[in-house]
Amino acid sequence: MTLRRRTLPALTALAAVVLLGGCARDAPQDFFQPEGANARMIDNLQKPVFIVAGIVGVIVFAAVAYAVVRFRDRGQAMPQQTHGNQLLEIGLTILPALILIGVGIPTVSTIFDLARTDDTECIVNVTGQQWWWEYDYPVQEGCGGISEPIVTSGELVIPAGTNVLVRGTSRDVIHSYWVPKLNGKRDMVPGRVHTLRLHADQPGMYLGQCTEFCGLSHANMRNAAVALTPEDFETWKANQLADYEAPAEGTLEARGETTFTANCAYCHQVDGLSTTAPDGTVTPVIAAPDEFIVAGAAPELTNLMTRTTFAGSTWWLLTQECQDRLWAATPEEFGALYLQGVTPECLNEVDLREWIRDAPSKKPMDAGTDAQARYDGKYRGMPNLGLSENQIDEIIAYLLTRK
Ligand code: CUA
Repeated sequence: MTLRRRTLPALTALAAVVLLGGCARDAPQDFFQPEGANARMIDNLQKPVFIVAGIVGVIVFAAVAYAVVRFRDRGQAMPQQTHGNQLLEIGLTILPALILIGVGIPTVSTIFDLARTDDTECIVNVTGQQWWWEYDYPVQEGCGGISEPIVTSGELVIPAGTNVLVRGTSRDVIHSYWVPKLNGKRDMVPGRVHTLRLHADQPGMYLGQCTEFCGLSHANMRNAAVALTPEDFETWKANQLADYEAPAEGTLEARGETTFTANCAYCHQVDGLSTTAPDGTVTPVIAAPDEFIVAGAAPELTNLMTRTTFAGSTWWLLTQECQDRLWAATPEEFGALYLQGVTPECLNEVDLREWIRDAPSKKPMDAGTDAQARYDGKYRGMPNLGLSENQIDEIIAYLLTRK
């Protein structure tokens, strides 16, 4: 009795924590709070199925409990043995079959609806990699028209109220793309292209994370979908394709451009960056990550400060205060705030600085004990470049101009 008196309140408290935890209104990855057509289809299916399964579960447990208590061994004689009860057997076959059909029809029809691609209004290619997501927007009439490919990473920017089709694959191992408020999960597999529909009702930010174990920093492989009004999305596209503006000569930013070119541009592409030889010849700087890192690709940084996160969306480029402002924005206010990008006042310099100073210590990238180990002369992930604090100052000043 003492045991029951203690166990019951403990179990009740645990159940309350679990249930109420699921009800938190500000949980950014709560799939019980769908914010788009596809996630809503799943929600409309999972709730009734959960109720049906719950009722069946309660009935089964009650029947087992009844049998255990009612027929427990009291030293009584062995009951008379019988074989079979036709009515019960047929009934207990038909009833579950009917329940399964009742659950199966809406399930299969939802699976087909979620696999549709014929109503696509915007296509984005997504590539998973240890441990970040790359997005490229191919030339298309969709997405309001894209005339030049756009490449970005970390944050998937989409027009709100639009049927977006993600075509996803992977460069190395199996990853899984998931933005819980917009749709279910989709594995991204090397050598295959899997599609995933995304639709966001309102402008805003929808967080997600890789949901297939993919190595050391699987937990550091996050992502975010950012929905903008179609007008704001046009502005975003124009920003991504704007001409390169070099920092004014003699400034900290200009020194940063040189330092960036000498240390970072081998792997990270910045469109428009170029070097000028003493004789005036201008050569574009083209990143060749396949020569330096095992993965063969690194996030392009042309417009880094139009994003709000970095390093696989694991860290914010925004200070806590500026993140809070973004989260507090109404759907009407969100776009303008997001399009401001990272201002110097809003920059989370602490994490960015630590990252540039020693990336492997911030995000485990190699299982070996030597964080700087090389494979065929290539690093696994971003290495510690051994930059001085002055060089880091310059690079951060330069990166702040990348909008
Ligand atoms: Cu990528 Cu887990």
